[in-house]
Amino acid sequence: MKEFNICLLPGDGIGCEVVNEAKKVLSAIEKKFGYKFNYKEELIGGIAYEKTGSPLPQITIDSAKSSDAVILGAVGDWKYDTLPPEVRPERALLGIRKALNLFANLRPAYVFDELVSSSTLKEDIIKGVDIMIIRELTGDVYFGEPKGVEIINGEKTGFNNMIYKESEINRIMHVAFKTAQKRNKKLCSIDKANVLDVSRLWREVAIEVAKEYPDVELSHMYVDNAAMQLIRNPKQFDTIVTGNIFGDILSDEASMLSGSLGMLPSASLSDGKTPSLYEPIHGSAPDLKGKNVVNPIATILSTAMMLEYSFNDSVASKAVYESVKKVLKEGYRTPDIFIEGNKNVSTSQMGDLIAQNI
Ligand code: IPM
Ligand code: MG
Repeated sequence: MKEFNICLLPGDGIGCEVVNEAKKVLSAIEKKFGYKFNYKEELIGGIAYEKTGSPLPQITIDSAKSSDAVILGAVGDWKYDTLPPEVRPERALLGIRKALNLFANLRPAYVFDELVSSSTLKEDIIKGVDIMIIRELTGDVYFGEPKGVEIINGEKTGFNNMIYKESEINRIMHVAFKTAQKRNKKLCSIDKANVLDVSRLWREVAIEVAKEYPDVELSHMYVDNAAMQLIRNPKQFDTIVTGNIFGDILSDEASMLSGSLGMLPSASLSDGKTPSLYEPIHGSAPDLKGKNVVNPIATILSTAMMLEYSFNDSVASKAVYESVKKVLKEGYRTPDIFIEGNKNVSTSQMGDLIAQNI
């Protein structure tokens, strides 16, 4: 019996619903593959702010730290939009990333054959797309100091600092090269080295680290060009590595290749000394809360990433992925991926179906 402690952070909006479906699938995994998962649920985001005054209570951080893996739903709601920045739900996300040292964010963008027609892009452009975006997650303009809004020379001035230390670039590059090695051995590093000094260092370190991975072909691309190439010809990419803000933008763009934001999982990994965190890449969709209509597949696939990266079990991980594929093949669709002729199912029915097929 393989026993693991999982910290659940459902958060706001539809977070609870999708995390519930992920649990169903995990209980099928327990039975089939001999696991025992112990869950501990904690507050994060707006709900945590409402109940404790902080979007990221210390107990949530402690619980997450003492677990073997963390599953997060989503945070945020329009009703918190007027809160001061330091207690907004988004702050909790940045806080937990920093607290758990989750510097490597893996965001796959692949297209299920069954869903090619759900994308807004042409079939021949997206069929067979399989990209892994590796986004640096604890540095860059997200965390750089100084930052703020101040009066400078008599005028209100806002500023943030895009900053990377060599060691931060170095460690994300190692994750990226290792990931590329397990895939098609092609790594594209995305920066803005024609303009930004921080990107020049980024590129320099990428080239240096590449020497340790002679089997991986490294290329470089400017971020503006990359945004265009992702739509023009996404199949040219295999593994992508980029900084925090470029990765934020490009991963949203890439997600639409898959047909729906509701399909894609993510893994945020540390150096192994703290647990990793798994979450769908979509947000909290407050308008859909409680309606049992959202797509739980992104969160379910996030548990597949957990099985692979935290519990080193690619067989169980594959079982989740295959089950999703099978259910899609049989024509079951939540509204976000529904097209004429499909069988419309709710959030909980989709979870049941995927769990049953494990
Ligand atoms: C993401 C989100 C977050 C980010 C926000 C909600 C803070 O967009 O995970 O991509 O910018 O990192
Ligand atoms: Mg984002």
